[in-house]
Parts: sequence; C-alpha cells; structure tokens
Amino acid sequence: MGKKSKKINDQSYGVLLGDHLSFAASEAYKLLRTNLMFALTGTESDCHVVGITSSVRGEGKSTTTLNLAYSIAEAGQYVLVIEADMRLPTLAKRLGIDGSKGISNLLVGMSKGSEVMQRSSLHPNLYVLPAGEIPPNPSELLGSDRMKITMDVLKKDFDYILLDLPPVTAVSDPLVVSKLVDGMVLVVRQNYSNKRSLTEAVRQLQFVDAKILGFVMTDSDTGPNGRKKYYKKYYKQYGYGYGYGASKKKDKKNEDEKEKTIA
Ligand SMILES: Nc1ncnc2c1ncn2[C@@H]1O[C@H](COP(=O)(O)OP(=O)(O)O)[C@@H](O)[C@H]1O
Ligand SMILES: [Mg+2]
Repeated sequence: MGKKSKKINDQSYGVLLGDHLSFAASEAYKLLRTNLMFALTGTESDCHVVGITSSVRGEGKSTTTLNLAYSIAEAGQYVLVIEADMRLPTLAKRLGIDGSKGISNLLVGMSKGSEVMQRSSLHPNLYVLPAGEIPPNPSELLGSDRMKITMDVLKKDFDYILLDLPPVTAVSDPLVVSKLVDGMVLVVRQNYSNKRSLTEAVRQLQFVDAKILGFVMTDSDTGPNGRKKYYKKYYKQYGYGYGYGASKKKDKKNEDEKEKTIA
C-alpha cells in the first residue's frame, strides 16, 4: 500500500470505471453484487474469494472485476482485486497505478505484501494487487503452496477477494486456483465468444469441481430495464458474431445503434 494513485486511465478501453459509469451500468453492477452475495450465502468464511473468468480473451473480465469490486466497496466492504491474469495484465494501466511489482514478485518471495498492494483511487475500501513482473510460469506460481499461504494471510484483511483470471480455454490458471476460491463467475460477451468455447469452459470448471456462481453477460443488446443505449464504437469493434440468435434479429440499418450494457 502507500504508492499514490494517479488518475484513472480508461480512455483506451472505452468503458469507464467506478463512479464514472452511467446510471444503468452502475445499477447493473449493483445487481451483480447483490446476486453474488446471495450466491455466496452459506459459504462459511469471513472473506469470500471469487474468481472471474471467461471462455476466451476480451470478454470483459477485468472490467467486470473492477466494477464489481467498486460496487462491493461502495457497500462498505473491504475488497481486494488480485490481478491473476499475469500473462496479459491491464489493471495497473487502467487504474493509473504502479504495476511494476505485484503478485508474481510476492509469490517468488522478492517483495512483501505491503510493498505490492495498492489502494485504488476508485474507492478507499478497494485495494489492488497488480500482476507484477510477467513470470515464465504463472500456472505454477498460482498453484504453489505460497499462493495458498498468501491467500490465507490476505483473507484476514478483506471481506472479499476477487481474482481477475485469464480465460479458461486458453490456460490452466483458472483451474489451478479453483481450490482457492469459493466460486467462479463466468463472463460471456454477447456475439463474441462461441457456444463451443463456453461449453468447454464450463466442462473444464466442472471437471475440477469449481463452483460456478453465475454468468455475467457483457456488451448485451438491452440493459436491465430493457432501455437501449447508444454504443456505436463497440459495435464496430466487437459487432461480429458467432451465431447466437440475438445477432440474427438485428436490423442491419440500425446496427450502428447497438447499445452497450451489462446484463
Ligand atoms: N460490459 C461491457 N460492454 C462493452 N464493452 C466492454 C464491457 N466490458 C468490457 N468491455 C470492453 O471490452 C474490452 C475488453 O475488456 P477487458 O475487461 O479488458 O476483457 P478481458 O479482461 O476479459 O480480456 C475493453 O476494451 C473493455 O472496455
Ligand atoms: Mg483482463
């Protein structure tokens, strides 16, 4: 903790974070928080540990993790986001914090927790443990005894720990950490990931007995209240589909008016 946070840098990602969100988006994350809290009912622990993953890259895991964490922090809980996607770290850049040292340095014993954990400028209750230096063996580090010990220590200081994981079908990291989490949230981007990858991701998680707490759909056509929102840029960037029914219903003329929201 301690390093002073700079300004949030989300321009290159298009989707804003924390209190920069639209009312509808922030309500959607609050709903996600509530659903998550219900899904975790019965988990015997003072600190809930949740992994956020997806079937493929770019579905919105990191964005969902940060906004969910913010929403939990807003509810008065202490929350830590661990950037466990060590192969493709984005959180430090997005939050404008120093990401040169992080969980990888901690796990190889090169740094102490107090040196690498940082308070986020998004909310005073929200802390971030960046990925740190990109290691050659992230799966081994995440599956190490040291990771388990580290988690046990961190759990004493937080109500929630969210692990921003890589996609299930790309690497084994989410499966490796499945024993350390109370459950997994699977992020699914509309018209982006295909059914086969999602089925495979679910199969792999079930194979290691991971508890799937629920699914979050990102970039969907309609918001929680069914209202349409203008979201031209992301339609252009992500508007190609793999054949989910929703994309077929679209009126070509109105394609540019695809809205972005979080279901
Ligand atoms: N709910 C959403 N709606 C639209 N775009 C989103 C949403 N969530 C994330 N994105 C955008 O998708 C891109 C990938 O998001 P990111 O969270 O980095 O994905 P991942 O961590 O799964 O690779 C970013 O440009 C981000 O701004
Ligand atoms: Mg990510």
